[in-house]
Amino acid sequence: MLSSELVVGVDIGSTTTCAVVAEAFLDRDLIDVLGVGMAPSQGVARGVVEDSASASRCVREALQSAEAMADVDVQTAVVSLGGEHLASQTEIGMLEIPGNRPVTADHLESVRVQGQEITLPPGREVVHVDACDYSLDARRGLASPLGMSGSQLEAQLNIVTGAAVARGRIEEAMQRADLTVHQFALEGLATGIACLSEEERQLGVSLVSIGGGTTNISHFRHGALSFHSVLPLGGEIISKDIASCLTTTLGEGERLKLAFGDPQVRGNPQAEITYRMGAEQEMGAVTVDLLSQIMGARVEEILEMARDRLMVRGCLAASPCGLVLAGGSSRLPGLVETARRLYGGMPTKLAEPRRIGNGMELVRDPSTHAALGLTILAGDWTKAEISRAESMGLFERLWLAVKDLIGIGRKDAPATGPAAPGAEPENGRG
Ligand SMILES: Nc1ncnc2c1ncn2[C@@H]1O[C@H](COP(=O)(O)OP(=O)(O)OP(=O)(O)O)[C@@H](O)[C@H]1O
Ligand SMILES: [Mg+2]
Repeated sequence: MLSSELVVGVDIGSTTTCAVVAEAFLDRDLIDVLGVGMAPSQGVARGVVEDSASASRCVREALQSAEAMADVDVQTAVVSLGGEHLASQTEIGMLEIPGNRPVTADHLESVRVQGQEITLPPGREVVHVDACDYSLDARRGLASPLGMSGSQLEAQLNIVTGAAVARGRIEEAMQRADLTVHQFALEGLATGIACLSEEERQLGVSLVSIGGGTTNISHFRHGALSFHSVLPLGGEIISKDIASCLTTTLGEGERLKLAFGDPQVRGNPQAEITYRMGAEQEMGAVTVDLLSQIMGARVEEILEMARDRLMVRGCLAASPCGLVLAGGSSRLPGLVETARRLYGGMPTKLAEPRRIGNGMELVRDPSTHAALGLTILAGDWTKAEISRAESMGLFERLWLAVKDLIGIGRKDAPATGPAAPGAEPENGRG
């Protein structure tokens, strides 16, 4: 059996397309990052691919850099799913266990399947399902009832749905870039997998990831993604605010936003930063203080909207591990302090990648964290598949192999989640 596998994540963001190539070790909980590539996104708005031809060129560009760095050829990737169309709903799955027997993995799977039997409006599909709470008879709020005896099993499911057309356009962009989508995974989930510890995800933590065109809001509890929501606001709107207040171009707005990050600039509120006004050659000047006010208003709005969505769903009260801020815009100076103030003094910190052996220096930029998480998920799914196969009896394995050979029961894999059984990694070292 192979001891490691090449895993690839592609995150097509509103402003940046990022590809990460990594090596996942089947006997270790770590991955080595081998290559990272980034390209400015085109044809993507607020996390949704609008023009698959333009998006595919960005995927190719990002991937070619990552491939060259890792010295590999890539054919398949796990790809992120983002955008405001994604919505979380809570459903309850129920299952009767005859004879008061111990709960098995099959019972957990059945209760999950039962809870997913929902009717969706045309054009919408289930993209992610996680069981975040179980009840067994009178025992409530269980992380996992596996092995406990009982007769009435209930699972509280977080079902994330999305517009099928949005996923279809990403698939089209990937096809045009000559890549197969191995699986999809929510961008917020991938960032959480990359940057939150197992303990944080077990005990309860909120994650607010401010990207370029969107803000992903996620809550984890009992190791599951228990809430997910997306705001159509990110760093781009902050640059636009600067541009419209100072009657300049979006490019100048972005430049002023990044210039504000320089600690020497921020140290003197009355200092002036010069900029080009509109398309003219005329120069203007803005004080650091005014720039801070323009940016601060929008940053507070984004953080407050995220807070309100988390609060309504009871996520903040269920976040003993506090708030973690991620995404490219988390580099905005003073963000942690502003969030702490707006979230009632909640412990707040910036996201940092975890579970990395070699190559940590390649994923320091928060814009890489979603793609990094996709590679970690890919490795975890492979390990889960292998341990499932190993725990199967010989007859079961033979039957699956025969079924696979003749195509019985083959159907489309769910949009996100573990790799389809028997799926072979297609990526290879070049
Ligand atoms: N040093 C910095 N200070 C402030 N903002 C920054 C800094 N560096 C990058 N950004 C902002 O981060 C944003 C890009 O972040 P990211 O790459 O996470 O977004 P994305 O994945 O392209 O978009 P989305 O996830 O919303 O679809 C841009 O708006 C950019 O201006
Ligand atoms: Mg993003």
